[in-house]
Amino acid sequence: MDTNIIINIAYIVSAALFIFGLKLLGSPATARKGNMLSSLGMLIAVVFALFDQGIISYSNIAIGIAIGAIIGATAARMIEMTSMPELVALFNGFGGLASLLVGWSAIDPSANTFTMITIFLSILIGGLTFTGSLIAWGKLSERIAGKAIVFVGQNVVNSVIVLAIIACGVMFVMEPSNANYLYAAVALALLFGIMAVIPIGGADMPVVISLLNSYSGLAACAAGFAIGNNLLIVAGSLVGASGIILTKIMCKAMNRSLSNVLFSGFGSVKATTDVIEGEVKPLTPADAYYILEAASTVAIIPGYGMAVAQAQHVLKELQELLEENGADVLYGIHPVAGRMPGHMNVLLAEADVSYDLLLEMDEINPRMETVDVAIVIGANDVVNPAAREMEGSPIYGMPVINVDQARTVFVLKRSMASGFAGIANPLFFKENTRMIFGDAKESITTIIREFE
Ligand code: TAP
Repeated sequence: MDTNIIINIAYIVSAALFIFGLKLLGSPATARKGNMLSSLGMLIAVVFALFDQGIISYSNIAIGIAIGAIIGATAARMIEMTSMPELVALFNGFGGLASLLVGWSAIDPSANTFTMITIFLSILIGGLTFTGSLIAWGKLSERIAGKAIVFVGQNVVNSVIVLAIIACGVMFVMEPSNANYLYAAVALALLFGIMAVIPIGGADMPVVISLLNSYSGLAACAAGFAIGNNLLIVAGSLVGASGIILTKIMCKAMNRSLSNVLFSGFGSVKATTDVIEGEVKPLTPADAYYILEAASTVAIIPGYGMAVAQAQHVLKELQELLEENGADVLYGIHPVAGRMPGHMNVLLAEADVSYDLLLEMDEINPRMETVDVAIVIGANDVVNPAAREMEGSPIYGMPVINVDQARTVFVLKRSMASGFAGIANPLFFKENTRMIFGDAKESITTIIREFE
């Protein structure tokens, strides 16, 4: 059989594996299998791409793969679960840089206009994805200030950059042999990535990372057109489409539009919320035990603090003790709890919590009034009733888990500090709320000891 046909069949198999893999990633129960299938697809893609293209040096490629594999495996092993979004930001950024370099290397003055346009797009989108992701990584890891950086005339400056990009693109396509347009395109793309992300506050970085993930896919897709590789086009489109769908889901969960996330400078101005009335009522873990012991329905609502405390395993132990005691235990999962999509699901899966017990926000909210005790563990913004009650609040209108409607609410956190959005939480002052101050893992461990 013709080598070309074999290679294209292998590409179709890879594309099918990517699509099935993505489908399986949709549920925690099948996610591992989905990951394996997609990785297998990528392996087949890489191996057959090495037959497909006119390879100049296999040894250089082997060295590159070895270095990349060592860095990737070490980074993935060492990274804390709470820092995963930062790692994803870096991966996106380097994906963008790779597309920029592929586009650059594909420049051929004799190429047709369509190919030159795709080369320009891979350089542009790849470049802005690279610097935009680096800024997002810096903001998330607090290496640079997370605050939205806004200045007078910002829109004018950005508009001038966009016009310069368009002009440069036209000249680049018309005169591909003039290297000055290439250098200008690279510089403008890198600059635009920085300018687009600095006005966005740290609290919105997970959305930005998902959007940049989508861009890295589009850049790869453009690079696929530039070098005539069908699989790169398919894989890039899949990443581009899934990234934008995820971005939309996150925006919906926060009740905000994408343009509000990108252009509103959320977090740059201190929120003016109404004065919160009520009194904070602390409770010791030992006293919490007596209330839990008498509860017949318990809802657990985890948030970012559970990830920080790594409390998922002790939480599972508590769940089993409560069940042995005759209580029904459920988990309420908010779509943007934690710092990345599925953050809570991954941690609870790690602790072997059954998937059937995880209820989404829309499923748990109607049941909340029948819950005896809602245990809020390291969650803050996603259970903030200000989203329903305080019109002036920046999160007003965001769907939240209505824990305040349970008979009793335990809030496990270390202090009265605000959550990621930086706003006060009236839940802590409600009549039926008890604050259990301290590290979530330690507090739960103390409650478990009381049970035992
Ligand atoms: P947050 O509102 O960030 O609150 C986390 C809470 O955990 C803090 O109030 C903190 O209080 C507590 N905490 C930290 N370490 C702790 C520990 N060791 N033990 C006990 N408590 C601890 O978290 P959330 O409710 O999960 O909300 C997520 C936020 O991220 C939302 O604002 C959401 O919009 C934003 N966001 C998320 C995503 C995704 S995809 N997940 C995307 C975009 C934006 P103390 O410091 O007092 O302990």
